[in-house]
Amino acid sequence: MLERQKNNAGAALLYEQVAGEIAGLVDQGTFRAGDKLPSIRQLSTRFDVSINTVMQAYALLEDKCLIQARPQSGYYVRCRVPEIREPDLKSRSIIAPTTVKISDLCHQVMCNMMNQYLLPLGSAIPHTKNLPVDKLNRIMASEVRRLGSQSITYQKPPGYERLRVQIARRALVAGISSGPDDILVTSGCVEAVLLALRATCHTGDTIAVESPFYFNFMQMIAELGLKALEIPSTPRDGISIEALRYAIEQEKISACLVITNFSNPLGSLMPDERKRELVELLASHDIPLIEDDIYGDLTFGNERPTAAKSFDRSNLVIYCSSFSKTIAPGYRVGWAMGGRFQGEMERLKMMMNIATASPSQMALAEFLANGGYDHHLRSIRRIHARNISQMAEAVARYFPDGTCMTHPSGGFILWVEMPTGTDAMTLYHRALEQGISIVPGPLFSLTNKYGNYIRLSAAQWDEKIEQGIKTLGKLAHELLP
Ligand SMILES: Cc1ncc(COP(=O)(O)O)c(C=O)c1O
Repeated sequence: MLERQKNNAGAALLYEQVAGEIAGLVDQGTFRAGDKLPSIRQLSTRFDVSINTVMQAYALLEDKCLIQARPQSGYYVRCRVPEIREPDLKSRSIIAPTTVKISDLCHQVMCNMMNQYLLPLGSAIPHTKNLPVDKLNRIMASEVRRLGSQSITYQKPPGYERLRVQIARRALVAGISSGPDDILVTSGCVEAVLLALRATCHTGDTIAVESPFYFNFMQMIAELGLKALEIPSTPRDGISIEALRYAIEQEKISACLVITNFSNPLGSLMPDERKRELVELLASHDIPLIEDDIYGDLTFGNERPTAAKSFDRSNLVIYCSSFSKTIAPGYRVGWAMGGRFQGEMERLKMMMNIATASPSQMALAEFLANGGYDHHLRSIRRIHARNISQMAEAVARYFPDGTCMTHPSGGFILWVEMPTGTDAMTLYHRALEQGISIVPGPLFSLTNKYGNYIRLSAAQWDEKIEQGIKTLGKLAHELLP
């Protein structure tokens, strides 16, 4: 019980004492970054104070940025890590469209991410120990047995109906009302985006993309002979609508490709109002929006964010996602809701690879229907939130002063800015020599930006990973200009 002090000058008020006790527990490491704090009711009993006093104490700690409330979930310890600065978004800072060159570096980085002999500090692939491997194996076996010859024949586009029904049901949580016929099952999200680009653009066309931007899509844009126009994006709000508006006035843009929820690499979550503005701005110029929402289910809160597609009144948004970040990347199952372009995308899909593998679709349909997907999501959200905090704390501890990073509220990616002049490419090569793979910042732009940034992945956290961050930090110190 707290020793109550009188409210005279110099003595702390009761709620301040409670706040002091909680802050003390955080200082001692009883509660660490990412940990959930006791409920208001528990603390009220524990300290023998009123509910109101605990609420005031929590409000005080929130003001001091020590803790953070997550809607309908409770209070959590924040990580005390310098946050990346919001860039100055002058619309005129847009650079002219650039023809993308496929780089060997991209290919090398992708191969390194999947190299089991390297410590995967950069790869945006969920860790198998956080995925429902045994359950999926059981489901796969029983579904192919149950469905017999159906499981070895083509499930021609738009794909296995039972899966499309499940996807349509889940889309409601993202604010999208759809039917199974609005959905096209694809081989991963990458194929969904590829089909969307092919259905909306022709060789030589310009695509507006966020900057920094997921490097694999840059390659795809290159392969298709398209040009990319980089629009500045911020960790807090995502793509700048103002800069995009300016770009649309200057250039003919054929489509806009955006990762709306917990983007890669910034982790930004576009507020609903911004999503609406984005959809309306593009619709007013008849420009399709290709929305990649692959990380949306990985929010750290309890409520999944909405999709920009939920604001689509013109059927001009092509929604793309997959189960690669949540259930099984190797199943290669994703989907698109193509709106106006649905028919064309189905035709292209059939021409390119006929159909997505049947057994994976069947296993996923059953897992979504009866496998406890929501329970699984709650578990990985918690794990990733905690991993992100621990990794961020470790980066703050081991990297040079002046390093800062994003504070994403979902996903499992950290975007780290090192002091100016610290060369991310040299760090990438030196890290490889030490058996560590990371993704260097310059890959995320076509215009020589992000030379002192790296992308880290918090898909897993253990002693080995912490040692890896320590080694990276040491290398970064050696590279300080
Ligand atoms: C934003 C984004 N979209 C798509 C993908 C790939 O998705 P899939 O494996 O389902 O093709 C990734 C993987 O890193 C990604 O980060």
